[in-house]
Amino acid sequence: MNQKTEKSKTITNKTPVNQPAVNKSATAKDEQQTKILPVDKSVRRLESHPSIQEAASMLRNGEVVAFPTETVYGLGADALSDAAINKIYLAKGRPADNPLIVHLSDRDQISEYVTSVSEKARRLMKAFWPGPLTLVLEHSGKLSAQVTANLSTVAVRIPDHPVALALITAANRPIAAPSANTSGRPSPTAAAHVYDDLKGRIPAIVDGGVTGVGVESTVVDCTADQVMILRPGGITKEAIEAVVGEVTIDPALAQRTGTATSVAPKSPGMKYTHYAPDAPLVLIDGGVAFFQDQVTKAMNTGKKTGVLVSAELDDYIQADKKVIVGSRENLSTVAGALYESLRAFKANEVDIIFSEVFPETELGVAIMNRLYKAAGNQMISEQK
Ligand code: TXA
Ligand code: MG
Repeated sequence: MNQKTEKSKTITNKTPVNQPAVNKSATAKDEQQTKILPVDKSVRRLESHPSIQEAASMLRNGEVVAFPTETVYGLGADALSDAAINKIYLAKGRPADNPLIVHLSDRDQISEYVTSVSEKARRLMKAFWPGPLTLVLEHSGKLSAQVTANLSTVAVRIPDHPVALALITAANRPIAAPSANTSGRPSPTAAAHVYDDLKGRIPAIVDGGVTGVGVESTVVDCTADQVMILRPGGITKEAIEAVVGEVTIDPALAQRTGTATSVAPKSPGMKYTHYAPDAPLVLIDGGVAFFQDQVTKAMNTGKKTGVLVSAELDDYIQADKKVIVGSRENLSTVAGALYESLRAFKANEVDIIFSEVFPETELGVAIMNRLYKAAGNQMISEQK
């Protein structure tokens, strides 16, 4: 039995990725060189930074550009232009029925794009913008219909990241941006992840370093009086309820099985498999002995095993490759490192990955939502 343990680092990639060489594998006629535009997010007057200026002019000219937000990197395009928005769907291989989030830099801009903002929606904006909360509201018809996938509603947010805000302001456009990964892959929390997925498919990536929150924004439906969470994310249900009182959760999110009788989620994106690492992932709900048992059994059948565990389990679990995802004591460290950790297992290194589970409260709700999706709902429980 191979007991060699390779420990991968938690997020350390603070340096911008290097300017890549010309992509030698470029053969298809739509392949292009992907330019890296570095920017230090702490400098003053970011709007006039050459990288921001160049990216903003690309956006104004109908191009797609990846950029950092406080949650994950987004792949942005002019939300007023059908042709620009089409390029997002094409680059990501995104299903056409999955609408995009529109990013604004100023709360005053919202009245242009939605028909009305309820009192509860107003309170949520005041409490959480800029920040990882996306509101779904009835749209006014001014945005490209591709952004909203022909729905009557639009999802909007103001990101809490100086580079994102400077870029949106400099572009002087509402910017539609899904996560900047190939559809189905874990979302990117560093420019290098975007480059891995989309090199040759997009003209530029604004590299503003590693993102912070790590999981995407919470999506809430504010079209009815009862606020409903459509996707758990960076802002917790508890924090939302402290502002608007009791909220509901889309019942489709409670389903862990994709059976024929299942209810369709109200957020189209939630029905797709997502965040999948390079090897099958299985969640382990049980004690450390039970966890190690599952890994050992797989090793004994000749499989190369990977484990995704918190720092607290480090001493107890051995596998061919081990990635430490943060601390159970502080779930924001787990959220911050989750996608990078899923990306750390390469297909040629492991045949199967086992992951610890986390308590489904506060940020743990978003973490477990992503882990269930990444695992295609595969879980082994100790207690029956
Ligand atoms: O943190 C985030 O939200 C990141 C950054 C880049 O802002 N963006 C992001 O976008 O996660 P994306 O496209 O990966 O996820 C958007 C989610 C999808 O599940 C989509 O179906 C949902 O929002 N959505 C968009 N418009 C909607 C609408 N009108 N009604 C319901 N759900 C909507
Ligand atoms: Mg996404």
